[in-house]
Amino acid sequence: MTIKSSIKGFDRRTLIKGSALSVASLAITGGYPSILRATTTPIKIGIFLPYTGTYAKLGSNIKDALILKIEENGGGVSGRKVEFVNIDSEMNVSKSTERINKLILRDKFDFLVGPVHSGIGMNMARIARKSGTILIVPNAGANEITGKFCAPNIFRTSFSSWQTAYPAGKVLLEDGMKRVVLIYWNYAFGKQTADAFRESFEKGGGRIIADIPTPFPKSEFQSFFTKIAALEPDAVFTFYSGGGAIQFMKDFKRAGLNRRIKLYSTFLTEGTAKAAGDASEGIRSTLHYATTLKNSMNERFKSVFLKKTGQEADVFAVQGYDAGELIIQGLKRTGGDTVSQKRLIEAMESSKIQSPRGEITFSKAHNPIQDIYLREVINGENEMIKIAMEKVNDPALGCELI
Ligand code: PHB
Repeated sequence: MTIKSSIKGFDRRTLIKGSALSVASLAITGGYPSILRATTTPIKIGIFLPYTGTYAKLGSNIKDALILKIEENGGGVSGRKVEFVNIDSEMNVSKSTERINKLILRDKFDFLVGPVHSGIGMNMARIARKSGTILIVPNAGANEITGKFCAPNIFRTSFSSWQTAYPAGKVLLEDGMKRVVLIYWNYAFGKQTADAFRESFEKGGGRIIADIPTPFPKSEFQSFFTKIAALEPDAVFTFYSGGGAIQFMKDFKRAGLNRRIKLYSTFLTEGTAKAAGDASEGIRSTLHYATTLKNSMNERFKSVFLKKTGQEADVFAVQGYDAGELIIQGLKRTGGDTVSQKRLIEAMESSKIQSPRGEITFSKAHNPIQDIYLREVINGENEMIKIAMEKVNDPALGCELI
């Protein structure tokens, strides 16, 4: 297994230009006739994730867990080595289309894995539809990725926006919350999270008394908190993640809001609960993973990941780990053949993944069908409370595969 540019190994020029492939590997790949190349040369995986900014830790956990999964499989699949080309997305949505187009033209990946951010995710999906490269999305939740932009060569091992937030409406109603304020980062994923929550919450008789989108990736919340305090809602439902989420929880507490208003979310406390200290205690959320899930896969994964990276496992690591498993299962069933892509896609579609989150299968639109859990932060851990909604299947609106 080769990693052409782990984040540590990135030289500065490579990082800035987003380029990573060595001339040597191009020469090797180019020298073989295609049939031989299909079964003997390294499998090439392009990783496009953020390693800077508010989602930096999400990106590195996804990447590390993906690499861990391939390492656990001996560094290759079906006799072929795996070669990673690791690129920092720099969370730059407007430049992402041009950068990815260049990379796939030059590097001819067998698989492209990324990104975290929904805006970049939609750009990657558009490109994958045209280029035919197999894209595995290990985070970005935009509904369109397995909805309007769905395609046989696009898979997601994470979630759709709708899938994580829709079950939350029911949870808040069960908890007796009737008047709720929405506050979230103002871009595709935040907006779709708010919409999905609204759909189930209002259907059950709840009332949204204010809808507050805030600029991404800013984390200055004081003026919004003054407004929320004046509204005196039962609860706030929110989407923030990574570094911005830690700031949100701390400021919410500092403003004294946590004493009067219950805080709910999907991703707010994921990978951030400990860093937020007691500001995260008691926050409830709906998500497809919980740290304390009791299954042997989860126990093992948490300990191996911690040992390997020094980081605690979270949902992002799980999604990267399962992206690796999807690649492995697909290739094992084709005997390592990547040239007959139809066979490979069929093998991936029918994969059943024993994940640390529990078992997942894939919908016709290639989004995971999975349980969504209700969690609560207790002593800094996202504890599993119960299954909020079982085997949730995204409606995949606009997808022509269903
Ligand atoms: C997204 O942009 O799709 C996104 C980013 C961070 C998360 C979840 C979703 O934690």
